[in-house]
Amino acid sequence: MEKLVITGGNALRGTLPISASKNAALPLMAAAILGPGTCRLGRIPQLRDITTFSHVLRIAGAEVSREGDGLLIDASRINFPEAPYELVKKMRASFYMLGALLGRCGRARVSLPGGCAWGPRPVNLHIDGMKALGATIDLEEGYVVASAPNGRLHGGTIVLQPSSVGATVNLLLAASTARGGSRIENAAIEPDVVVFCEMLQAMGARLHGTGTRTIEIEGVPLLRPATFANCPDRIELGTFMIAAAIAGIPEKPVTLTGARADHLGQDFMGAFLRTGARFEIADDKILIIPPEVLTPVSIVTAIYPGFPTDLQAQWTVLLACCEGTATVTDQVYGDRFNHIPELARMGIEVRVNGNTVTVAGGTKLKGARVMSTDLRASVSLVLAAMVAEGTTHVGRIYHLDRGYERLEDKLSTCGIDIRREAYDEFAAPEVPA
Ligand code: EPZ
Repeated sequence: MEKLVITGGNALRGTLPISASKNAALPLMAAAILGPGTCRLGRIPQLRDITTFSHVLRIAGAEVSREGDGLLIDASRINFPEAPYELVKKMRASFYMLGALLGRCGRARVSLPGGCAWGPRPVNLHIDGMKALGATIDLEEGYVVASAPNGRLHGGTIVLQPSSVGATVNLLLAASTARGGSRIENAAIEPDVVVFCEMLQAMGARLHGTGTRTIEIEGVPLLRPATFANCPDRIELGTFMIAAAIAGIPEKPVTLTGARADHLGQDFMGAFLRTGARFEIADDKILIIPPEVLTPVSIVTAIYPGFPTDLQAQWTVLLACCEGTATVTDQVYGDRFNHIPELARMGIEVRVNGNTVTVAGGTKLKGARVMSTDLRASVSLVLAAMVAEGTTHVGRIYHLDRGYERLEDKLSTCGIDIRREAYDEFAAPEVPA
């Protein structure tokens, strides 16, 4: 097991590179299954989730290898249309294999994702959508067993309620090679989904309305391999903007490079500016100028272009660094607060009431031994440790490694006292002599 050991108080300064997007990379990898031949994907980050999904693709018959900053995926032989529980339980986006395998092979046996660190994350929209495209669906021993009549799905109309990133991706994977036209209403418009649609189009899919709430698809029998480059990670960008606001110094602004500021949506950028922090955008560089004193700003998460739920834990730490009280409300996942008890151990004055957290800023955070519970919770503990007095040990950082590439290298290059250490989680605590 590994942990990060962080001693707080150092200023964050210098340049932080933004890695490629995890949540766009995964759909791009799934799309590669739809066409026999080799896809060349550029800018695929080195993350646990990418490694896990590469194994999922290999089990189906693809050959996946690293090339430069990306992946080569040879999907000439997809001869085992299955995604096993052992891998799907580690990374729920493996459920994209339902649409990819139905779209390529006309059948699929994919494990249901099961629970998540913060409670139920249903897949009813995925299942109902596949049925609307003609798939027969059975549930056998925790697996979704799906097949298309005569080996190919037919077009259909699907209305997503609520709008869902995963369901939009999964249904586009299935509809792209269906016989006839399909329509997805209330589709997700996150940048990750738009980039995914651009790759499908590069592979020969016939889509109209990408980036809008209504996507029309004219199915084609097979897609062809493509060379395609991924986009930067908008959630890492937001995370680092918050890091610069709480740990940066006004006279030495932090520069974020390789970024797409337009991918974060107006709600986050507006809330960020209302704290008194400023930013200057020049091409793919963003200069972050923190204020002398942060103003607390309450936020409510929503689907894109709303405030991302994947940044609410990080925003909670920002509020702890402000003078005054404010709230974080998560309307997307009403129970995504496993980080709160860990942050409270560091001295954050925080109270959870339903899907709202109230944070009373102004208390000095103190280092402690804390435990990661999920990806974004993990990074919020790192942010808190950066500004806490003393040393913090953030355990179980396998959660963090799912979605942040070389985090300790990036932060230590920018002045933060942070190192990775192995530890035995079950070792008896040292008994004082
Ligand atoms: C994607 O998850 C992201 N994951 C999540 O990021 C992100 O938090 C989430 O979108 C919301 O933005 C990836 O892209 C791999 P949804 P996804 O389906 O697709 C409900 C991270 O930290 N819903 O858009 O699973 C659901 O309960 C991860 O990188 C149904 O009701 O999210 C939620 O309230 C965590 N039925 C809402 O839709 C369904 O069948 C949005 O979920 C599917 C979803």
